[in-house]
Amino acid sequence: MANSPILSPTDGTLNAAVQALRSGALVAFPTETVYGLGADATDETAVARIFEAKGRPRFNPLISHVADAQSAFSLGDFSPVAKVVAERFWPGPLSIVVKRVTDCPIAWLTSAGLDSIALRVPAHPLAHDLLARADRPIAAPSANRSGRISPTQAEHVASELGDRVEMILDGGPCTVGIESTVVDLSGSSPVLLRLGAVTREMLTEIVGPLREPAVGGPLASPGMMTSHYAPDCPVRLDVAKPIPGEAYLGFGPVPAGENTLSLSVSGDLVEAAANLFQMLRTLDHSAINAIAVAPVPQHGLGAAINDRLHRAAADR
Ligand code: TXA
Ligand code: MG
Repeated sequence: MANSPILSPTDGTLNAAVQALRSGALVAFPTETVYGLGADATDETAVARIFEAKGRPRFNPLISHVADAQSAFSLGDFSPVAKVVAERFWPGPLSIVVKRVTDCPIAWLTSAGLDSIALRVPAHPLAHDLLARADRPIAAPSANRSGRISPTQAEHVASELGDRVEMILDGGPCTVGIESTVVDLSGSSPVLLRLGAVTREMLTEIVGPLREPAVGGPLASPGMMTSHYAPDCPVRLDVAKPIPGEAYLGFGPVPAGENTLSLSVSGDLVEAAANLFQMLRTLDHSAINAIAVAPVPQHGLGAAINDRLHRAAADR
């Protein structure tokens, strides 16, 4: 991709951005916290491209952005108190983790295989306009390469990811400048997962005392505090040929057969990442003894795929 243009928001550029998102491409856009690297949250392959572009060594769950609270309520299971929190702080710098509704269209890779999803209604008018036009949830982590600081200006995004995105919508400097607060309201007691401009005190007024995440403090590495998805069945790695009773998750061509799937017949790592969580879920059922997984190359997105497979295998 040639050096991607920084575009001022107009009717034309916003429509072009929506078209790009709908075709599975990446579009960087401003929110009031930081610039986001956006993709259609319902498209597994588009979301895989986010991880590829960022060069993230593992899959952590991403925030899905929507235009208004009603859209969020159609995707996640909000308790009455979660609705009060949403209505108090949205649009704004708060992300809320809730359980997926049945048949939630958000891709499994967006939530890194979890049954819960993080949702946010950003306050930036350009973000709102884009999301309303897109009319679908947009997954977006901060628009920087892995391990770099989050961008608060369009130029920062261009220098980090300029050759990786279809376009960068310019909304000026971000007013908040740090990532959104993340609160988990999916269980019986609320958990503060990440601190941001919506403070603990502001949340406590509505939900009462907030628990800390089980591992690490609120400022520890965000991806690490999230308990991750693992299949119920044992997982066996680096298997060239499964034994009877095992399901098989291949990479490259696989023999046709029951409980046999390939992450990517052509050996494409973006496709493999897009298929990873949904295929593990498909193969994970009581009729099999284990899921045997073929070796996956370690380069590019393979590192994140292998990270996740090793955790799934080690969980026994
Ligand atoms: O300000 C922001 O939040 C920016 C802008 C672009 O909106 N986005 C952002 O996204 O920082 P990201 O993907 O870098 O941060 C996602 C955070 C992580 O801390 C992640 O662990 C948590 O949200 N998260 C997402 N889904 C989760 C889930 N289902 N359960 C627990 N934590 C989740
Ligand atoms: Mg970040």
